[in-house]
Amino acid sequence: MIHIRIAECADAPGIARVHAATWKEAYKGILDDAYLGSLSQKRLATRWRATLGHRKEDLDEQVFVAVQGKDVVGFLTLGASREAFAPWESEIGMIYVLKENRGAGIGRVLMKAAADHSIRRGMFSCGLWVLRDNGGGRDFYEALKGETTGRKTDSVGGQLVQLVAYWWRDVATLADRSATAFQPGRN
Ligand SMILES: CC(C)(COP(=O)(O)OP(=O)(O)OC[C@H]1O[C@@H](n2cnc3c(N)ncnc32)[C@H](O)[C@@H]1OP(=O)(O)O)[C@@H](O)C(=O)NCCC(=O)NCCS
Repeated sequence: MIHIRIAECADAPGIARVHAATWKEAYKGILDDAYLGSLSQKRLATRWRATLGHRKEDLDEQVFVAVQGKDVVGFLTLGASREAFAPWESEIGMIYVLKENRGAGIGRVLMKAAADHSIRRGMFSCGLWVLRDNGGGRDFYEALKGETTGRKTDSVGGQLVQLVAYWWRDVATLADRSATAFQPGRN
């Protein structure tokens, strides 16, 4: 049984485990091996502990976790738009699901949590940036009817990368598209 909830400070090690494992696997061949190899679960846990330390439910900025039993198997970060020129009001910063848990609807329910939270906070459009070469991630956003809206070059781990923007001009569309119930056993 998967449960989606707002992350607590105690989730930091679990989020760090998913963060390190998914980056090393999903970004192999896209980001530098040396950078991916240097990602340490322990250091990420310290960073996540600091990020989560001051969270309250009524903030625009939020982290959601997908939990199976006691284990974090996926997470998503949401906040207000980080760039003045971006057309959207809320922005999804990260969404990652452990490889062994993919394809069962967890990503979809995390996106639903983000869409619902955006609406509750009065942010009625939502967007994100994805690595241009991350075909799987882009297919996921396209399955949820995200529209492309821009491109940019940025630096990740000291490496210049190409990013593509997807957005939902009416976040209610994302809430509807991602409303399908979690389907255990599909993965
Ligand atoms: C992208 C990711 C979060 C999706 O999570 P998930 O739990 O596997 O996704 P879901 O099972 O909820 O899938 C939702 C829909 O997206 C589609 N989809 C998901 N991943 C896909 C992929 N790699 N290729 C094609 N379609 C995909 C599914 O087919 C599904 O559509 P359907 O219900 O119409 O069949 C997950 O695959 C992941 O962590 N990938 C690696 C990291 C990554 O790319 N993150 C995004 C960074 S910006």
